[in-house]
Amino acid sequence: MILAIETSCDDTCAAVVTAGGEILANVISSQGIHDRFGGVVPEIAARQHLALVNHAVGAALQEAGAGPGDLGLVAVTQGPGLIGALLVGVATATALAAAWELPLAPVDHLHGHVAAAFLGAKPFAPPFLCLVASGGHTLLADVTGPGEFAVLGRTLDDAAGEAFDKGARLLGLGFPGGPALERLAADGDPAAFAFPTGARMPGLDFSFSGLKTALLYAVRDLGEAEARRRGADLAASYQHAIVESLALRLERGLAATGRTRVALGGGVAANGPLRARAAALGAEVFVPPRSLCTDNAAMIASAARSVAPLPFPEYLGLEPYPTGAGGL
Ligand code: KG4
Ligand code: ZN
Repeated sequence: MILAIETSCDDTCAAVVTAGGEILANVISSQGIHDRFGGVVPEIAARQHLALVNHAVGAALQEAGAGPGDLGLVAVTQGPGLIGALLVGVATATALAAAWELPLAPVDHLHGHVAAAFLGAKPFAPPFLCLVASGGHTLLADVTGPGEFAVLGRTLDDAAGEAFDKGARLLGLGFPGGPALERLAADGDPAAFAFPTGARMPGLDFSFSGLKTALLYAVRDLGEAEARRRGADLAASYQHAIVESLALRLERGLAATGRTRVALGGGVAANGPLRARAAALGAEVFVPPRSLCTDNAAMIASAARSVAPLPFPEYLGLEPYPTGAGGL
């Protein structure tokens, strides 16, 4: 069995997964204290991880009915993510692995999102294109094997989930904004406002900062009262632009690689219109259950299966790496 720990952002996660990909426990402690700030506060996230991580690990082992003697490997997210948050997970995982004299697998968070597709009774087998869109990252990857993927495109500025969150904030909705914006958009006309879909930007990279500015100007031009009255139309048009921007890159990626199958991941994969638009691409579309799309440790355990583990005690001193440029 693999014990995995994931603390790259604001969810404290621990999971127990078998080498065959069966999920025995997948514990996610959402911190729930960042909402009032309209986004994740890194220092608070790190302190909350410290308060929650031992409990999350204990709960995962208990749910799996497992003890240290049942484990063959400890896995942990090494990066990218918030450095203080990652440090808590890495320190916990290396300490546990050392105490139990187990090997340790450092896992890349994005590899984890891709590997979510390999879990459960009906794993989605490579090759396929994988679109990962969350609050922290947006990328399109060509997945050719369990641990083999090439990043074809990534966001040059905001992540897709961040675009949802910032748009929602402009429309006076709460955080996280994606679900709230989707609900408001349900009664709106996606063609009411022509927001930029990035169609004129060639290639497979994403960009959402222009869209955010377009919404800001539209709200300003309408005035506060009228913007509130047209809220559903603004939300629907804005959501449409994000979905089109994502779908267009998927379409181009499919054409460029000749792949016929697509997996979605990240919190934005919960979005109804995105799922519908992806389903209409003509490719076979796989969306893992929501608990495996958002940040979780089961996906980290899944990815760990194709990472060369560091033997005891070589991993003492393992250092996390932070979020890089471009929403990764
Ligand atoms: O993967 P995730 O849970 O966490 C991190 O990014 O850390 O993704 C959260 C993101 C948020 O930006 C949220 O607004 C977005 O996913 N999201 C959605 C929906 N549900 C969550 N965006 C659009 N539509 C949704 N239904
Ligand atoms: Zn993530």
